[in-house]
Amino acid sequence: TKSPVKVTVTGAAGQIGYALLFRIASGAMLGPDTPVSLSLLEITPALKAAEGTAMELDDCAFPLLKGIEITDDANKAFSGTSVALLVGARPRGPGMERADLLQANGGIFKPQGEALNAGAADDIRVLVVGNPANTNALIAHSHAPDIPAERFSAMMRLDHNRALTQVAKKLGVGVDEVTKMTIWGNHSASQYPDLFHAQVGGKSVAEQVDQTWLSDTFIPTVAKRGAAIIDARGASSAASAANAAIDHVRSWVHGTPADDWVSAAIPSTGEYGVPEGLISGFPVTSDGGDWKVVEGLDIDEFSRARIDASVKELTEERDAVKGLGLI
Ligand code: NAI
Repeated sequence: TKSPVKVTVTGAAGQIGYALLFRIASGAMLGPDTPVSLSLLEITPALKAAEGTAMELDDCAFPLLKGIEITDDANKAFSGTSVALLVGARPRGPGMERADLLQANGGIFKPQGEALNAGAADDIRVLVVGNPANTNALIAHSHAPDIPAERFSAMMRLDHNRALTQVAKKLGVGVDEVTKMTIWGNHSASQYPDLFHAQVGGKSVAEQVDQTWLSDTFIPTVAKRGAAIIDARGASSAASAANAAIDHVRSWVHGTPADDWVSAAIPSTGEYGVPEGLISGFPVTSDGGDWKVVEGLDIDEFSRARIDASVKELTEERDAVKGLGLI
């Protein structure tokens, strides 16, 4: 029998945590043959709520769930962990300036990066979900010098999945018939969902839809979907975000199909003109080891301008956190 893999979830008592933990414990993320032990990291006032979630996890009697730890100590939570899902973050409050938001998140992701560096397992993989996800990942990564850069990623998969469904609905096909989708850049309204490389039936999606739909309907629908969900539900996306986190880690650990790729934000090594070190959305594959950027795609002028705009925003966020001494 395999020994359990330790999975740490921060913000475990939040809405995404509630949608995420049960699926991890059921085996949806690491597979039906991998036992897991869960570590729930929360801030002190939310520990009681996390205990309630742990009671419900117990009550599911998941055969794969071998242990649950609940703590407000990042060093304990990340000690020996192989998968760290960094979900807890500081939301933007009323009247909060961007610098305040970045400062508050720096106060979370800097110590978490240090704790990961100090204690995580050698095979650690980190997924940052808490917003601003790309820049929070950059902060954590910059405080974990002993962990290889490629182990840090931020989530573009929810945007990716949203894009798959919009295309499938438009062309009247199943979501599984849409391949090679890419979300470039920042997980923000500036993101660029790329239909020039996405395919249905072996042909570019861009060739099968009109340009007006692509630029005036598709892109804003995907990029502003988070706001539309808040408007409809009265709360931000939670189950779909948790589902995307499961998809992201499953693709990373179990690999992507031979003739397809997924979207993830990973540290750039200069691919597609994205400045080195920025944690940007790319088309990526995995063979079960590390993410690899799909190289050699032709980038047309329309796409270039949009990728550049989103990457510019990432650069500004990086400069801002640098200015605040957070990286
Ligand atoms: P939530 O507010 O329901 O839960 C967040 C939890 O994090 C709270 O329980 C809070 O106590 C906890 N927390 C705060 N600071 C912490 C710390 N230092 N250590 C451990 N836990 C801490 O929020 P929700 O809905 O679960 O969303 C979480 C984050 O995910 C937000 O930043 C949200 O913007 C982001 N998000 C990202 C998406 C993406 O595609 N990347 C999609 C949807 C949400």
